[in-house]
Amino acid sequence: MTASLEQLRRCHFAVDLGAARTRVYVRGVGLVVDQPSVAAVNTRTGALIAVGEFAERMKGRTPHYIRVVRPVSGGTVVDIEMAQRMLRGLLGDKVRRALRRKPYLRAAACTPHEADPLARRAATETLVGLGARRVELVDTLIAAAVGCGLPVQEPEATMIMACGTTTTQVAVLSLGSSVAAERIPVGGEAVDHAIVQHLRHQHELTLPGQSVRPLHIALSNMGITAQGPASTEIRGRDVVTGLARSVQVDTAAVRNAIETPLTAVLDGIGRVLRECPPDLVADLVDRGITMVGGSALLPGLDQMLREATGMPVHIAEQPDVCAVRGLGYMLEGRIEPLMLAPIGA
Ligand SMILES: Nc1ncnc2c1ncn2[C@@H]1O[C@H](COP(=O)(O)OP(=O)(O)OP(=O)(O)O)[C@@H](O)[C@H]1O
Ligand SMILES: [Mg+2]
Repeated sequence: MTASLEQLRRCHFAVDLGAARTRVYVRGVGLVVDQPSVAAVNTRTGALIAVGEFAERMKGRTPHYIRVVRPVSGGTVVDIEMAQRMLRGLLGDKVRRALRRKPYLRAAACTPHEADPLARRAATETLVGLGARRVELVDTLIAAAVGCGLPVQEPEATMIMACGTTTTQVAVLSLGSSVAAERIPVGGEAVDHAIVQHLRHQHELTLPGQSVRPLHIALSNMGITAQGPASTEIRGRDVVTGLARSVQVDTAAVRNAIETPLTAVLDGIGRVLRECPPDLVADLVDRGITMVGGSALLPGLDQMLREATGMPVHIAEQPDVCAVRGLGYMLEGRIEPLMLAPIGA
């Protein structure tokens, strides 16, 4: 673990700055922010117009002088100043005032597994700009494993797969750190892209980014089995005429289209398992893989993993908030530090 539990227990708030969503946990209060990592700026005046849900709704619908930006990409803060302004906006005056009152404000943040020094620095700087005097960084996979109740501190293997926006991280954890891990550059975005391409080719329809969600939802209800709606109505723009049009999309065909990007994820899992010592692989046969992150909710992904690996696959409860919930548990001191029995005692 990057930061010690003792230090984490002294942090006042924890931040999970994701490419899709920003989540903030305040010690003693709980999850206070869970909003899209989006800010809308007036380029004429430089003023921040909106953040979070409201800014996301503006995407693709603004006049030219308003830009909708995402200051976080692939788990890394790419625009520190904008990320700070967005976080201030999301936290709101009340929470910020409460945090400012702390004499020595400490913050925790999670960073992707094996984040490079630049990415770690960017995360730290963002929180320092918010008034934190000290920032502890925690590996996202460890935070998420704690958040979904896996026994990370035990000498026993657990396999976790964090399905994010642009990356999927897979790791085998034991004794509080990772034994083997992989970062695969495929996430929810690649899957959405595959859906958009499918609609373009099969139905000659261009789709605004936000409209992929109804398809997800239709697919989620049905999962991999053929129950539920066989087709879903999707509205978009005709590729040829440029006019608005709606089509009935066959959900089974969409499911096939998203399988292609997901094969890279399966390859990554295979590599992690090969790298892992045999004793730990034996543990994994019973315990299986736990999926966290928003894209874990992708319909059929768990079933696909089950078939490909032959191992049990579980989706964590509320998989998208696992990382920040784990940080919260660490801040509240709800996980026991690793205690090895003294020799001869
Ligand atoms: N119900 C759902 N079905 C399918 N996909 C979903 C669902 N909910 C969220 N997603 C997708 O999950 C992805 C990641 O969501 P998550 O909330 O974990 O993002 P994040 O933590 O900001 O990302 P990252 O950790 O990669 O920076 C997004 O691409 C989102 O579209
Ligand atoms: Mg995340």
